Amino acid sequence: MKSLRSLLTCLMLFSVFSAFAEEGFRLSHDPYLQNLGTDEVTIVWVANKPSVGWVELAPDGDESFYSEAWPRFFDTKNGIKRATKVHSVRITGLKPGTRYRYRVYSQEVVEHTGYFVQYGAIAATNVYSKKPLSFKTNDYNKPDVSFAVVNDIHGNNRLLENLLKQCDKETTDLVFFNGDMISIADKEEDYFNGFMDKATQLFASEIPMYYVRGNHETRGSFATSFQDYFSPRVETIYQVFRQGPVCFVMLDCGEDKPDTDLEYYGITAYDEYRTEQAAWLKNILESPIYKDAPYKVILCHMPGIGDWHGERDIAKKFIPLINNAAPDVMLSGHYHRYTRHEPNDKVSFPLIVNANNMLIKGEVKGNALTLTVYDQQGKMVDRFEIKK
Ligand SMILES: [Fe+2]
Repeated sequence: MKSLRSLLTCLMLFSVFSAFAEEGFRLSHDPYLQNLGTDEVTIVWVANKPSVGWVELAPDGDESFYSEAWPRFFDTKNGIKRATKVHSVRITGLKPGTRYRYRVYSQEVVEHTGYFVQYGAIAATNVYSKKPLSFKTNDYNKPDVSFAVVNDIHGNNRLLENLLKQCDKETTDLVFFNGDMISIADKEEDYFNGFMDKATQLFASEIPMYYVRGNHETRGSFATSFQDYFSPRVETIYQVFRQGPVCFVMLDCGEDKPDTDLEYYGITAYDEYRTEQAAWLKNILESPIYKDAPYKVILCHMPGIGDWHGERDIAKKFIPLINNAAPDVMLSGHYHRYTRHEPNDKVSFPLIVNANNMLIKGEVKGNALTLTVYDQQGKMVDRFEIKK
């Protein structure tokens, strides 16, 4: 009896081991768009084993994706194709306001020794029984723009879905994640289980997501890997871009407590980081991309009006620069409750602090930027209009 039990245990262990050993090569997380601009896009996806990766790019249209061999753009670093699981490809030289179709591929790298590389199976996105994925580049001349903002989701996929399903995929140009999409990052799956698989399923393969980091994304042992997944091919995660008549400035707030706080165990240096970022911000707010835009929207997860150190540092380093640059509005989160602040002697521009369970829909049409706030049930909570 005892030996039969041992034999059964061995057989079970063997079958578990075989299941792992035989797991087929596949894309484990579908592609999503990052850093979409007027002439560029970055596409990010994940394979389940180390692999090389590439994107095929085709013009929009009814012509079959199989009609010809489209140009390939490889995931490389310094001229070498990366054998990695997390893939990112930046494609430049695109035309503004133009739709492109794309397909991503990964091919497993089974072994790489000296001059020898053994490749394995290939996995790719489906263009046979599904419409190929596509995206449309930004365009300064687009007269109208429609965007959505969510924040402080903290890994609650149902909340994310309830909010984002209120957005029409046909008319929404872009989506912002305005920080604290998860509570802590200790491993890759925290991003994907927390919000990113849901985001890809809902929109992010075809509508660009711009990620404004919150203070919680800075926590955990995987926090330094953030940029492998989000804005991986640009220098900084604080950024500026323009779509249609709107210039968007995305700030990176850092942590809320002093760097010396027990909670950070000496692993943070956000005071210096915010100083370095303020120099960048000053330059951006004086440059044509900001000055020439008819509408100007700033996003920063922490609003800079509270009395914790991080917010005080933002109030000291960012807010005076922004006051001088007179944006139409700043969008923040962090407090998990909705408030709208009229301009005052400290913050001289309108500030909207969105709740964790509300969606901001922004729309520029004609001579007005309208921000409408909805709860999870789609009930309107607030409406704010800036007329030009
Ligand atoms: Fe926060």
